Amino acid sequence: MLSAKIQKALNEQINAELYSSYLYLAMAAYLHEANLPGFAHWMNIQAQEELFHAMKFYNYVVERGGRVELEAIAKPPVSWDGPLDVLLATQKHEAMVTARINDLMDLVIAEKDHASVSFLQWFVDEQVEEEDSVQTLVQRLKLIGSDGGALYLMDRDLATRVFTPPAQ
Ligand code: FEO
Repeated sequence: MLSAKIQKALNEQINAELYSSYLYLAMAAYLHEANLPGFAHWMNIQAQEELFHAMKFYNYVVERGGRVELEAIAKPPVSWDGPLDVLLATQKHEAMVTARINDLMDLVIAEKDHASVSFLQWFVDEQVEEEDSVQTLVQRLKLIGSDGGALYLMDRDLATRVFTPPAQ
């Protein structure tokens, strides 16, 4: 059984992952409007990954005999100041998610819930990848600066991203 404290924290994380998905969908819509379909596609896949994360927490709570309690999802912003601003906001958001996962890990260690420690380790590793992939895009976009041709090529590259459910 999950302790009440851990169950509450896991439910809050389901909400945080669903918000992440919502945020990235909002960013995808903005990027479509900005005529960057490849960036929009990349962000759309990011949104699908977040939904996968939310379901991973959801299924874990069910599996441990806990109660899933869904809360309202906050409204994300509707516009940003260009693709770099979107990616910097993504980077900031992912750093916040990493901090949340670390706090969760601290909690389950303190409560000696070894199954949850093992479960959360997947997310600790996943956050390293998530932060790295966004960092790579930020650096590339900074290099591009105001070169429209290079931005077009980057957009074309990002259009090729395929959603593959992250390894379990
Ligand atoms: Fe669910 Fe991007 O972390």
